[in-house]
Amino acid sequence: MSMRSNDAPETGAFFGRDRTWHSPALTPGYKTSVLRAPQRALLSLDGTLSETTGPVFGHGMIGELDNDLIHNFAKPGESAIGERIVVHGRVLDERGRPVRGALLEFWQANAGGRYRHKKETYLAALDPNFGGCGRTICDDEGHYAFRTVRPGAYPWPNGVNDWRPAHIHFSVFGHGFAQRLITQMYFEGDPMIWKCPIVNTIPDKAAIEQLIALLDWNNTIPMDARAYRFDIVLRGRRSTLFENRLEGN
Ligand SMILES: [Fe+2]
Repeated sequence: MSMRSNDAPETGAFFGRDRTWHSPALTPGYKTSVLRAPQRALLSLDGTLSETTGPVFGHGMIGELDNDLIHNFAKPGESAIGERIVVHGRVLDERGRPVRGALLEFWQANAGGRYRHKKETYLAALDPNFGGCGRTICDDEGHYAFRTVRPGAYPWPNGVNDWRPAHIHFSVFGHGFAQRLITQMYFEGDPMIWKCPIVNTIPDKAAIEQLIALLDWNNTIPMDARAYRFDIVLRGRRSTLFENRLEGN
């Protein structure tokens, strides 16, 4: 990755949002953005107390298999079909400090590119042992990890022949309902990334590269699963691109 001028350490109290980092709201190559994009000037609203303070989630709600998509929907003794992987990384704030206790939720298509969703129409088969979603909570160092199978690419009705590259959707929850960020993770070396109309709404190549998990050979589990590392940066000019923050702050 090339060095950017804004790679300098950030030491100020406030980190302004960098609008060149995020996709513009209106990107006709991504067809549904046309209807979604605001047509009037943006207003900045302060969050209300209830938005920032509640509801909260309890750590006790996480089940033992919630971070294991290979098994959390599978029949006893069975497992999901696909390339077994571990995805792990850290959630960091704008100064590189760990974010403790954030709730991470993730969802994805199965190894054939098919979602378990009633509106899903892709002809690839469902895997009876794969549900496609899970969750975990970051530890004191901001670390998270989960096991899954590598999702398949899938076609979607946008242009004549558009495909989504293999990806995992992420939601990060803070301590209040308004503190939710959503992004997508891609896989190192996947040539489909650069053909994706959604990825191509992102103006800065470095911002795209931050969404690509790297093959992490050191954390591969021999005879079991390969590892991918994906760090999520919540704010600041090195922020991960969050797709639900395209229009506002
Ligand atoms: Fe998706």
